Amino acid sequence: MKKNKKILVTAALPYANGPIHLGHLAGAYLPADIYVRYQRARNRDIIFICGSDEHGVPITIAAERQNVTPQAIVDKYYQIHKDSFEKFGIQFDNYSRTSLKIHHKMSQDIFLKLHGKGYLSEKTTTQFYCEHCDRFLADRYVEGICPFCNHEGARGDQCESCGRSIDQIELIEPHCVTCGNKPVIRETSHWFLNLKHYQHQIRDYLDKQNHWKENVKNFCYGWLNTGLEDRAVTRDLKWGVPVPLPGYEDKVLYVWFDAPIGYISSTIEWSQKIGQPEKWKDYWLDKETRLIHFIGKDNIVFHAIIWPLILMGHGDYVLPSDIPANEFLNLEGNKLSTSKNYAVWLDEYLAKFPPDPLRYCIAVNAPETKDSDFSWKDFQTRNNSELADILGNFVNRTLTFVNKNFDSKIPEAGELDALDQKMLTRIRKTPNRVGNFLENFEVRKALTNLMDLARFANKYFNDQTPWSTIRENPEKCKTTLNICCRVCKSLAILMQPFLPFSAEKLWSILNQEGVVSDCQWDDAAEADFPPGFTINSTAILFEKIEDDQIQPEIDKLKNIIAKRSTEDQPEVSKNNLISYDEFSKVQLRVARVLEAERVEKADKLLKLKIELGDETRQIVAGIAPYYQPSELVGKLIVVVANLEPAKIRGIESNGMLLAASLDDRSRLALVTVDSDITTGAKIK
Ligand code: MF3
Ligand code: ZN
Repeated sequence: MKKNKKILVTAALPYANGPIHLGHLAGAYLPADIYVRYQRARNRDIIFICGSDEHGVPITIAAERQNVTPQAIVDKYYQIHKDSFEKFGIQFDNYSRTSLKIHHKMSQDIFLKLHGKGYLSEKTTTQFYCEHCDRFLADRYVEGICPFCNHEGARGDQCESCGRSIDQIELIEPHCVTCGNKPVIRETSHWFLNLKHYQHQIRDYLDKQNHWKENVKNFCYGWLNTGLEDRAVTRDLKWGVPVPLPGYEDKVLYVWFDAPIGYISSTIEWSQKIGQPEKWKDYWLDKETRLIHFIGKDNIVFHAIIWPLILMGHGDYVLPSDIPANEFLNLEGNKLSTSKNYAVWLDEYLAKFPPDPLRYCIAVNAPETKDSDFSWKDFQTRNNSELADILGNFVNRTLTFVNKNFDSKIPEAGELDALDQKMLTRIRKTPNRVGNFLENFEVRKALTNLMDLARFANKYFNDQTPWSTIRENPEKCKTTLNICCRVCKSLAILMQPFLPFSAEKLWSILNQEGVVSDCQWDDAAEADFPPGFTINSTAILFEKIEDDQIQPEIDKLKNIIAKRSTEDQPEVSKNNLISYDEFSKVQLRVARVLEAERVEKADKLLKLKIELGDETRQIVAGIAPYYQPSELVGKLIVVVANLEPAKIRGIESNGMLLAASLDDRSRLALVTVDSDITTGAKIK
């Protein structure tokens, strides 16, 4: 990258309705913070912007349930988030909130600009209305049975179980989440972002992003290839940014319309706070700025497709130049779940453990290219046998040696032998190695290279045997310790983005001025000391973590899983066996796909005509993101032939095809048969 460009880094604005958990940290905040700390040490012109996302239905529902105002909820979590980010060392330049006046104004201005330029159109739609609560039921205010997978408790915008997005009107047995009553259907009008019309513009933009991560690009093209549909950007709600148009007094902007605008308004707030109210324009109005959005993969559509279109429509602002989205971090092998309380909450963690070991463990296991896992046992092992035994041990043995044998004065180096030379070369090379990985958002590899420096240094210490040379060859011993002290200083500088608290501690043990986070990255390449330099007495950098500290955490999670598997998601075990009779009620048959086509206005659906023995049938399946219609024709598939007919998006479906899929719906594969058997054949 060009070294002199301004960099504007954002991390997804968290919803202010519950505490931050590990998944959030791994997805966005920690990788962003590591990247920013590194770039600051490179002296780049960079700012790090975030804030609370304070609108949206989950917040108003939480407020109603707790019988408080939405403002009270967001005030509470704004503070909790701000405090725990700070304690965890996430160094934002500004942490704003979307309920602020400047944000409302900015969002309304952008909405009006898009409106004026023809990027929005007004449509009348049908929506559920609760006559008891006397209001429209936007998004999650209505729940029912999922029309695709029959999951009970599917929400008005999406089914959590099968992941499909739902048009609320199609929910089976809909009910108002507030009062439980059955809603009626009413007409209402809304403004839609014209995604369908502008999809070529979005594709052109995406085509230029060759440097993006593979997983992010694939995801975007998956959406584009199924065809984009216009999306409503207003809602019948009271909490949010009011729609600035006559006749829309009772409506607000959709939370996903205003939230990313929070990146701009938070930058404006930052400029005001530092007394340079126009400064934000240096970043947002300069098309050369590198705008980098750190997010988790559940936010990709909004940041890589919808938000760029909003920015293009507006026209004045820079577009995202990178979106290093991460996959998900699982917990002890299971998906994190806020609603089931299956998570490690940051504020609870920080009450018991120091921040750095968690930063380390998440960074080492960062879900950069695929989902990864956090486990408490791994956390303990990483802390004890990597941070304490490798990094901490090297620093400790070196500095104790200097404290004890050289009266805390760093000895001077004499003649260098081959090992000394090798160690020095290693010190000189590591900053760029680690740095290059960080430029590329490869935190795992960067961290491995940093730890390799400490590993290498431990070996160097062992090979040079200073405990004997101090008697046999004191000059050699001095040289060894001088070089080891330089490694310590270098480590402090390079550790800083990952392990900021321990880095500062080491910095002050090394008796260095100021804070290591103000230090230049390149200084780690020499990391020398003036002659006769005195250090302070050493202290342990990483305390070991004992079994009895983590066992309660493991037990807590196990209990949640045990409870959950008896409740809904039965595991395959001896307790939930079925009889052959029960199985044989399901008529599985081989069918051949005769025709396949997309379903208008339903980007996930395909309508298939299948041959089932003598019969021809129509079925609808949510497989459009995974298969092109043309590749299906002629395929032998497996269907449940005796499933009750259902209407999906108004289209009759007579049966269900079988497919294997991953829980997060990232992949899906049709079940087919091994050889060309006659259609209608029974599967048993
Ligand atoms: N609040 C959203 C979430 O937690 C993220 C919003 S990111 C922004 O999933 F771009 F909209 F700000
Ligand atoms: Zn109601």
